[in-house]
Formats: sequence, structure tokens, C-alpha cells
Amino acid sequence: MAGNPQVPVRFDRVQKSFGPVKVLEDFNLDINPGEFLVLLGASGSGKTTALRILSGLETASGGRVLIGDRDVTNILPKYRDISMVFQSYALYPHKTVAENIGFPLKVRKVKAAEMDAAIREAAAQVQLDQLLQRYPRELSGGQRQRVALARAIIRRPSVFLMDEPLSNLDAKLRGHMRAELKHMQESFGITTIYVTHDQIEAMTLAHRVAILEKGVLQQLATPAEIYNDPANLFVAQFIGSPPMNIVHGALQGETFVAEGHEVKVPVKGRLDKAILGVRPEDCSVTTPAKGDVMGEIFTNELIGDHTLITVKTAKDMITVKAPKDYRGKTGDKIGVGLAKSGLYVFNGDGGARIR
Ligand SMILES: Nc1ncnc2c1ncn2[C@@H]1O[C@H](COP(=O)(O)OP(=O)(O)OP(=O)(O)O)[C@@H](O)[C@H]1O
Ligand SMILES: [Mg+2]
Repeated sequence: MAGNPQVPVRFDRVQKSFGPVKVLEDFNLDINPGEFLVLLGASGSGKTTALRILSGLETASGGRVLIGDRDVTNILPKYRDISMVFQSYALYPHKTVAENIGFPLKVRKVKAAEMDAAIREAAAQVQLDQLLQRYPRELSGGQRQRVALARAIIRRPSVFLMDEPLSNLDAKLRGHMRAELKHMQESFGITTIYVTHDQIEAMTLAHRVAILEKGVLQQLATPAEIYNDPANLFVAQFIGSPPMNIVHGALQGETFVAEGHEVKVPVKGRLDKAILGVRPEDCSVTTPAKGDVMGEIFTNELIGDHTLITVKTAKDMITVKAPKDYRGKTGDKIGVGLAKSGLYVFNGDGGARIR
């Protein structure tokens, strides 16, 4: 499926309100030609609304959307050259798999022979070639999702929009389909905007991730940048599992001070309310004398290739990713070592990153 020119997509100061409720506020986002962009955010953050505005199913209250150099803000959905995959699949129950996949071509009055060939090609791409005569009710969730995908790719649109397309699948199938989607997007090179609330999907699929919170873009960056260099406390805690630990305290010069401990940090400033962030893998268990932070073991969970130790400090809980053979008991007094390279400091008011 070659020959489709790769186009950029732009949200330009898009606003959307439903009555008094502001869902998108001054939403700006530039997506590169051929990019796989993942829009990540919690439920209700405005992800679907953004996709629906781009596809034309919803009108913006303000701002513009552009596909290529075309301002499509006031153009009907069918003229925007977009394919969308919905979370619900939205298959036609009384049409076979073949008829479902071929539908976008049928409405465009493509000739039967040409349509037949295209259906076979699209079906083969998602490994549905053996199931063309079945009806949706005779398919598993994963197979239905692949029909929806085939229906989206058959038309070689300029832009793919996908709204949580894997969320109805079980974990194993989701992992499998994730790999297939990534491969498909790479080989088609079609600009894709993929919506999810699943950080693993975002990190594994995206060229870049856009993190949305309450209708406001928090950060737009590659998965590695988002993980290693979060813009603020929200992003820092949204990405990573288990999430980044936080300790409440104050910043005094280059020292972070919390009840019972002082930690040298790689930033400088003076804040009465500051938050120290450190990921579980940048923490280690040690003796109370050697630790940067002291506490006692609260829980101990063997995960498989590592053990998660939750340590209760004066005011906070800190999760430590420890070796799988670490033997510590609940109530043991221990120290937690913090890797200097893994320390982040945030403003305790609002969560801005202190650099
Ligand atoms: N047609 C509508 N009328 C009124 N409010 C709406 C409408 N559509 C969405 N909203 C509200 O806008 C906000 C954002 O909704 P949206 O569907 O974009 O969120 P989302 O990020 O896709 O969430 P989810 O992950 O749950 O799908 C929500 O608070 C929702 O209740
Ligand atoms: Mg949604």
C-alpha cells in the first residue's frame, strides 16, 4: 500500500466547550508527516473530543484543524480523507467480514473486481483471509478489532485516527495486536493519531507522546524524553510503573529537606513546599546508616525478576525495585539509597519542574 503522500496534521488553538464545560483549552499540536503520535490522558481529559474534532464528527468552538496544508475546520468529514477506528469497532452486524471491510470502497462506487482484490489484500494484512464469509457475531473480540482495522486501511487515507482500539482485548491479545499495529504503521507510513489511557501502549507505539490533562497539553516528546525528562509532576507520576516516588519537603539551596532526612539535589533554589521525585529503579535498599532516607519495610512483593519493597518513611511511602532474592521482613528498619542521576525536584504548589 504505497503511494500515499505523507501529510502533517495541526491543531491550531483548538477550543471546545460543551455548554459551560471547557473540554479543550487552546489546544495546539503539530504532528509530523508519517508520525505515529499517541495522545495519552486519563479518562475525561478530552482525547476523544480532540479526535472527533479532527475527523469532523464534532465542531470546535474555536481554532482550526489542518491536514497537510488544507484547513479542514469547516469541511465535511467525508472530504477529510481520514479513517477512524473506534473503541467499539462499530461493525455492521448483518454484513459479512468481507462486506464490512469493503464498505468504504462500496460507498465510493469502486468496481467489483477492484474492490474484491482490495478486500483480499487488506484482510491478508490483518490475517483475516480465512474468515471473510463470517459475520461479526461469529468472531472473537480480537478478530472483530482486526476487521475494523482492515476497514480503516483499505482506503489508504491520509490520516489514521484510532480511539483506544485495543482496550476491549485481553492482555495477551493486546500485546500481540500492539506489535501488529506498530509494524503496520511503520510499513504504511501513514500519519497516525492514536488515543489511549494506557501508558504502556503509549510508550511502546509512539514516535512521540502528547500527554493531555483536563484539556491542556502537558508535554509533547518522545517516550524516552517523557520518561527521563518529565515536564512536571503530573507527567512524572503518570508515566512509569510503579509510579515515581514522591517525598514532601522543602528546598534549601541545593539540599532537599524532609522530616528525618536531607538529600543533595541537582538543582538550586528556595521553596518551603517542594517535592522530591525518584523512580523505584533509582532507589536501592541498604542499611539505615548508609541510606539517604530512613524507614521501615511496609510490604515486600516478589514480582518475578525483581522484588518491590515499599518503605514507610516519616511522611511518605517509597517503593524500591530490589533484586529478586532480597530478603527483608515487614517492620525491618532499613535505609533507602537514592541514585543522584535519578532525582527530580518539583514545586509543591502546582508541580512545575525545578531545573
Ligand atoms: N457531547 C458531549 N456533551 C457534554 N459533555 C461531553 C460530550 N462529550 C464529551 N463530554 C465531556 O468532555 C470531557 C472529555 O470527554 P472525552 O470523551 O473527550 O474524554 P476522553 O479523554 O476520551 O475520556 P475516556 O478515556 O474516558 O474515553 C468529559 O468530561 C466528557 O464528559
Ligand atoms: Mg475517549
